[in-house]
Amino acid sequence: MIAFLWAQAANGVIGKEGRLPWHLPDDLAFFKQQTLGQLTVMGRKTYLGLPKRPLPGRTNVILTHDPTFSAPGAIVVHSLAELQALAAAHPEQDVLITGGAQVFASLAALPDTLLVTRLAGEFAGDVTMGDLPWEDFELVASREVVMPDPRLTHTFEKWQRRSAKLS
Ligand SMILES: NC(=O)c1ccc[n+]([C@@H]2O[C@H](COP(=O)([O-])OP(=O)(O)OC[C@H]3O[C@@H](n4cnc5c(N)ncnc54)[C@H](OP(=O)(O)O)[C@@H]3O)[C@@H](O)[C@H]2O)c1
Repeated sequence: MIAFLWAQAANGVIGKEGRLPWHLPDDLAFFKQQTLGQLTVMGRKTYLGLPKRPLPGRTNVILTHDPTFSAPGAIVVHSLAELQALAAAHPEQDVLITGGAQVFASLAALPDTLLVTRLAGEFAGDVTMGDLPWEDFELVASREVVMPDPRLTHTFEKWQRRSAKLS
């Protein structure tokens, strides 16, 4: 499986000042459940915004164009080709691509699965999810979680690619 995994507000916002704009413990638990033991890919900016890094129990894979960037305990890759070679060398692991927006944009052709948590509320932020070819995917699972704060009510959605690209 090669999946995109992210959470977005109703207005498309995914980030604010390098962090998530909300605190949603069950989405963090879902993120952990999906990524544990897997290749967990993220952009340099998202990685540097993590409160604790590298994420334990996962192969942390950081994308950057900077050949001098180092991230102790993580694997640094510099291109799509390097990422694909890494994934091919670890066929036993799924590839969870976890953002941010620049990474999603540059790897948009890759995923066979989209795992999106949609928050009901709008949030202020400075990074927004870009377009994806939604017409190539079909919704295969959806689960709503109602929260006391209606802005935090959220739906876990799983989408799968319609074509034969499933792996
Ligand atoms: N809500 C969510 O689910 C979610 C998920 C992830 C992140 N976020 C939020 O999103 C924000 C960060 O997103 P962002 O879009 O600004 O940054 P980002 O995607 O995390 O990182 C961007 C950087 O990644 C590197 N990069 C991206 N594509 C690459 C490629 N194809 N090859 C090599 N390097 C590549 C580049 O690093 P260099 O500049 O070093 O070359 C680029 O500047 C933060 O606020 C974060 O909290 C939210």
